[in-house]
Amino acid sequence: MLVPVTDMLKKAYAEKYAVGQFNINNLEWTKAILLTAQENNSPVILGVSEGAAKYMGGYNTIVGMVDGMIKDLGITIPVATHLDHGSYDGGKAAMEAGFSSIMFDGSHYPIEENLAKTKEMVALAHGKGISIEAEVGSIGGEEDGVVGTGEIASVEECVQIAELGVDILAAGIGNIHGAYPDNWEGLEFDVLAQINEATGDTPLVLHGGTGIAADQIKKAISLGVSKINVNTELQWAFQAATREYFEAKKDLEGKGFDPRNILKPGFEAMKATVKEKMEIFGSIDKA
Ligand code: 13P
Repeated sequence: MLVPVTDMLKKAYAEKYAVGQFNINNLEWTKAILLTAQENNSPVILGVSEGAAKYMGGYNTIVGMVDGMIKDLGITIPVATHLDHGSYDGGKAAMEAGFSSIMFDGSHYPIEENLAKTKEMVALAHGKGISIEAEVGSIGGEEDGVVGTGEIASVEECVQIAELGVDILAAGIGNIHGAYPDNWEGLEFDVLAQINEATGDTPLVLHGGTGIAADQIKKAISLGVSKINVNTELQWAFQAATREYFEAKKDLEGKGFDPRNILKPGFEAMKATVKEKMEIFGSIDKA
C-alpha cells in the first residue's frame, strides 16, 4: 500500500523504533527492498534522490514501477515513495507525479528563506495528502551532487521549522552521507536530545545511516529518531557481490551472461543488508 510517512512514523516515534528509508536506483533495488519488507512485515520507505529519479527516467516512471510492483508482488505492508533531498522544483514535480512523500531540503538557504520555502511546500504537500520532511543544519558529505558541510543544527531553527507543521524533521547532528572517516567523533547526542525535547512529538530523521554502529543507532532511536536513511551500504553490498561473481568468472559459465543471473548475487546481498538494518532499527513486525 502506497502511503505518506505520517502515520507510520508517528507510530514508530511513539513505540521507539525506526523505519528504514532505503534509496533505490533501479528495478532490482526496488524489488529487493519491497520483498524484504514484506517478508519481515516491516513498513518501508523507498528513497529517491533527484539524480536517481533522472537516471530511472523520471518521477512518473518511478511511481508507475512502484505501484505496479506493489500490485504484482502482493505487497501489503505500508510503503512510501519519498523524494530524498528534494529541491523546490523537484519537490513540486515529484508531488505532481504521485510521490506519497517528499523531503524539501532548504538547508543550504539562509534560515529565513528555508522557512519561507518550507512553509510553501508544506501547504502544497498537505493539500495533496502528501507527507513532508524538512532539514535544518546540512548533512555532511556528498550524495548525488548534493554536498553538505555537516553543520550541527541550531535547536531554535529546528523549532521554527517544526512549527511550520512538517511531518518529519532532519537535523544535522554530526552525521554525514557515505563512509565515516576514521576520526569521526560519533553523533552529537546532547544536541539530538535538545532537539527532540524542543520539537515535541515531531519524528526525527537520521540521514547518513551507512556505517553508524548499532549502539549509536539505538541510542538515536531512544532520542526521537524514527526514520533512518541508508543508501551507500546497499551500493556496497551490491558491488561486493557482483565483483565476486565476475572474479569467479561466473559470467563465462553456461547462462552466466544472462543479466538476470548477473544481477542475482547483488540482489540477494541487498536483501540481506535491508533485513539486517530492519533488525537493528526494530521495524520488523511493525507493519
Ligand atoms: P548514506 O549513503 O550514508 O547511507 O546516507 C543516505 C542518506 O542519508 C540519504 O538521504
